[in-house]
Amino acid sequence: MSKWGHLAQTLAARKQQDLYRSRLTIDSPQAPRVMIEGREYLAFCSNDYLGLANDPRVIAAAQQALNEYGLGGGASHLVIGHHRAHHELELDLAEFTGRDRALLFSTGYMANLGVASALLGRGDYVIEDKLNHASLLDAGILSGAKLLRYRHSDSEHLASRLDDARDSRALVITDGVFSMDGDIAPLDDIAQICHSKDAMLMVDDAHGFGVLGANGGGCAEHFGLNQSDVPILMGTLGKSYGAAGAFVAGSEELIETLVQFARTYIYTTSMPPAVAAAARVSLRISREESWRRERLNELVARFRKEAAGMGYQLAASSTPIQPIFIGDAATAMELSQALRKEGILITAIRPPTVPANTSRLRVTFSAAHTDDDLSQLLEVLHKYRGAANIAGAVNA
Ligand SMILES: Cc1ncc(COP(=O)(O)O)c(C=O)c1O
Repeated sequence: MSKWGHLAQTLAARKQQDLYRSRLTIDSPQAPRVMIEGREYLAFCSNDYLGLANDPRVIAAAQQALNEYGLGGGASHLVIGHHRAHHELELDLAEFTGRDRALLFSTGYMANLGVASALLGRGDYVIEDKLNHASLLDAGILSGAKLLRYRHSDSEHLASRLDDARDSRALVITDGVFSMDGDIAPLDDIAQICHSKDAMLMVDDAHGFGVLGANGGGCAEHFGLNQSDVPILMGTLGKSYGAAGAFVAGSEELIETLVQFARTYIYTTSMPPAVAAAARVSLRISREESWRRERLNELVARFRKEAAGMGYQLAASSTPIQPIFIGDAATAMELSQALRKEGILITAIRPPTVPANTSRLRVTFSAAHTDDDLSQLLEVLHKYRGAANIAGAVNA
């Protein structure tokens, strides 16, 4: 038998454990209503929190930039791929975040790997929240540093981990808003602990930018933390800003270190300049149109009140990420499928993305959702409250 026969077995085991993933093919723009195989669904699972992925002004900016710059970036930033649109977006992001400089990466995953690989090596420590996003854990592992994890949002445990690492350099990394739970890290405490123990702090605010803070400045604005409190601030452009890519903002020294040493910055083609041009417009809209954040708060408050009233178990989250905890993967899949039959799309999030027995429906809101959209979701959730109804619906 071939040495590779195990692939089929591994796939079969994944199916049997209700952990098999499959993709949906979307035939429409990213918006509350999406088309899949000729049917319209009301979706509550994208990260397009501000409803900008399909905003006409953002699309027009991309179209204009396509005409001016063409499509591909053409080369890496350090060769000849650093276009004016990239540069201007970096300047806007630096000003917006109140940092010396910002640096674009092609994806958030690459930004995270790039920072850790540029700053850490053998003999260093990287200390991470247990529920950090997979890209941050991978970044820690690939950096070659010793990876320690602390209990979720537990500042005291973090402090004791830092004591374990006291003779070495330590980089502490946390999600700002946790991607699968929606809760906000206690960054004021974490920043203070890092400061007192001479550790470097990195915050991945992929889900906070655009959403938190009066101007959408994310966790840093929410807590009022400046560059010396959070020296490495990472954000993405593919979520609230409806575009693609990511950035790291921080001191001149940090950014130059990344330009020189971050392998995922150096050895890859720059993002299409039209994406950067469109993201600049998204950023401007996000700053100006604070009604989008207010709208999200309204949707979240009503959802939490009514879904909790039906007996659903929700997370301690005030952000547009509002998971409904189910527990086992099979039941989470069943509820997701039952909702889909009713025309509502919410993905079941299962291990290994989340810890065992914490499978959930990750409900997310967009400022583009209407009150009627939410009513429709709540009506269907009402119908399927209780596990017996869920099983019945799927077997019907
Ligand atoms: C917290 C967090 N960091 C990083 C990423 C990766 O960003 P990107 O999709 O731009 O690669 C994601 C999600 O995709 C995320 O949720």
